[in-house]
This record gives sequence, C-alpha cells and structure tokens, in this order.
Amino acid sequence: SKRSADDLRSPICCILGHVDTGKTKLLDCIRRTNVQVGEAGGITQQIGATYFPMENIRERTKELKSDANLRVPGLLVIDTPGHESFTNLRSRGSGLCDIAILVIDIMHGLEPQTIESINLLKMRHTPFIVALNKVDRLYGWKNCPDAPIRNALKQQSREVNNEFETRLSQIITQLKEQGLNSELYYRNKEIRKYVSIVPTSAITGEGIPDLLMLLVQLTQKMMEEKLMYISEVQCTVLEVKVIEGLGTTIDVVLVNGVLHEGDQIVVCGMQGPIVTNIRALLTPHPMKELRVKFSFSFLIVTFYRCAQITSKPAITWHINEVGMRTLITLDIVVSICWPLAA
Ligand code: GTP
Ligand code: MG
Ligand code: NA
Repeated sequence: SKRSADDLRSPICCILGHVDTGKTKLLDCIRRTNVQVGEAGGITQQIGATYFPMENIRERTKELKSDANLRVPGLLVIDTPGHESFTNLRSRGSGLCDIAILVIDIMHGLEPQTIESINLLKMRHTPFIVALNKVDRLYGWKNCPDAPIRNALKQQSREVNNEFETRLSQIITQLKEQGLNSELYYRNKEIRKYVSIVPTSAITGEGIPDLLMLLVQLTQKMMEEKLMYISEVQCTVLEVKVIEGLGTTIDVVLVNGVLHEGDQIVVCGMQGPIVTNIRALLTPHPMKELRVKFSFSFLIVTFYRCAQITSKPAITWHINEVGMRTLITLDIVVSICWPLAA
C-alpha cells in the first residue's frame, strides 16, 4: 500500500526500571505469553523486542471506550534488563526509543536502577510514563482481570484505596526529589510538564488497557512530527550474527523508510564502512518476542516493520549503534549517515 505524508510510523517504546519490578511480566501480560518464567533466575539478561499491531492494541483497550483516533500502525516495545550489571543494555534500549515506560514497584518505590533509568531518560530527553506496577499486592486487593484501572479501583475497599493513595503520594514525592513532576494519568492536566503514572498489575492485568492507550495517545500527541513517515531509511542495528542456512545477518530496528532485498547498504564496521547488499528480509511475527543475544559478524535480516516497504528511495543508511557488548570495539556508539549515490 502507498504511504502518504500523514501516515505515522509505529513508535518505538522501551521498558526500563529496577530489577524485578515486572517489566517482562508486563509484556507477557500484553502478549499473553510466559517469557519471564523461562528466564534464568527470573532475570532478564538481554534485550527483547516485540511488535504489537494496532488490532491487538484496539482489542486490549476497547473497555476504555475511548474515542481516540488511533493513527499509528502499532507499537514496537523493547524490553531491557533491570539488573545493575546491564547499564549498557538499558542505555542502548533508551537510546533507540521514542518513548519509554519506567516501571516502579508500588510496594518498593524508587530503587537504584529506577534512578539510573530516570537519568538516562533525562539525558536523552525521552518522554516517558510510569507504570506503577504490582497494585495487586496492596493488602486486600480484589482482582479485576484486565480491567481499566479506574474501574478496578472502584471495586476496592476504602482501606485499599487509602493504601494506594498513600503509596502513590510517597512515590510522587520521591520522583519530585529526582526533579520530576508527576501525577496519576487521569488527573494529569499538563502532559508535557507532568509525567503520567499508570497503576498496573502484570499478574491480573488491571491498568493494562490504560497503559496501552496512554502510550499511543502520548506518542500521537507529543511526537506527531517525529513519527511522520519518511522515505529516508533510519535503522538501528541491535545485533550481528551468523545463522546457519542464512549466513551473516543483522537484527535491526527499522525506524523509518523503506528497504528492499537487493538494496545496497553500508554498515559501520570496526575497520570502517562495510558496503554490502541485502540478500533477504525477514520479519518476526507480531506479538512474539525476538530475543537479541549479542554475538557478532555481518549482513541484513530480521526486521521490525515500524516503517513499511514500498517504493525505492535513495538510501541513507543511518546507524546509531552497531554490534553489542563484549570486547569488540563495535560496542562504541557511533552515529553515521552515509548517503549512497543512487
Ligand atoms: P528484570 O528483567 O530481571 O529486571 O525483572 P523484571 O522487571 O522484568 O521483572 P519480572 O517480570 O521478571 O518480574 C519479577 C517478579 O515479580 C516475578 O516473580 C513476577 O511474577 C513478579 N511480578 C511482576 N509483576 C507483578 C505484578 O504486577 N504483581 C505481582 N504480584 N507480581 C508481579
Ligand atoms: Mg525482565
Ligand atoms: Na526479573
């Protein structure tokens, strides 16, 4: 299908927060998967990426009966580890996203990697919302599976509501100490100045509709221009690896533009630019997570359709980050733009 200038691309959203606040579990809840249970020690050790098509978001938010015009085609969500030893991955995740979800455990408040994440987001001027997770752990919480949070709170006793308000206001104070104004999202009248807080449970699903709706609305309101579909290719390499049967591949997030099999691209290598051709393009299934494990070497493959594949533009291959982790100097964050002669 032909894309026009009012078409928006899918926003890229990164999930950040202290270890065990429920980042992966929140994604599991949205995907209706069970990735977290399979993790060694329940600890995320790599970046994961999942594409949520708008049909799914519409389905999960229908109870909110919002008349919002959902214009983006979907949402690409990047999961990151919260363990203190993975600052590099949090930095990469936050570096390639348009918006972020900062997950805070309502029972714990701000923790060391919460603060580290806030500083990363501030440094990159990334807008974000707070998921105040694990509300089901408030004493006496009555489960309202997958309900919008206001409906769920109405079902709770006065005691539960009191504990909720007390913890919420403590966390608003802690955020204030980090220089952030914040407010419960449906009380927030100034979305550009106050960070919106969405109470959630990744186990029973309360607040998930609100979280999804808010993400989409905020990206549409605050960054329409940034999400404008353009034909210039913008792409970030997450991982380079050799796959048996495919050869050298790179996992990329295609942020904008169009790529074709056969296109010539330039990627940033240790010894300088690598000019090569795209042999095949593969896109992972929506709602399935693709885990990126950080190995190495070179060429194109896996592909998130944040942008769509249509007519052939003059290619600008825009690389923010190549390779991952470990000793190899590809780890350096590079920002390069090589226009290729048509
Ligand atoms: P790392 O990726 O290792 O930083 O952790 P994480 O933030 O992804 O947290 P994870 O999803 O691994 O969840 C940590 C633990 O908290 C698991 O035992 C989850 O079952 C539990 N948990 C997550 N979300 C909730 C929630 O909303 N309510 C309750 N009761 N438990 C939760
Ligand atoms: Mg995790
Ligand atoms: Na965990």
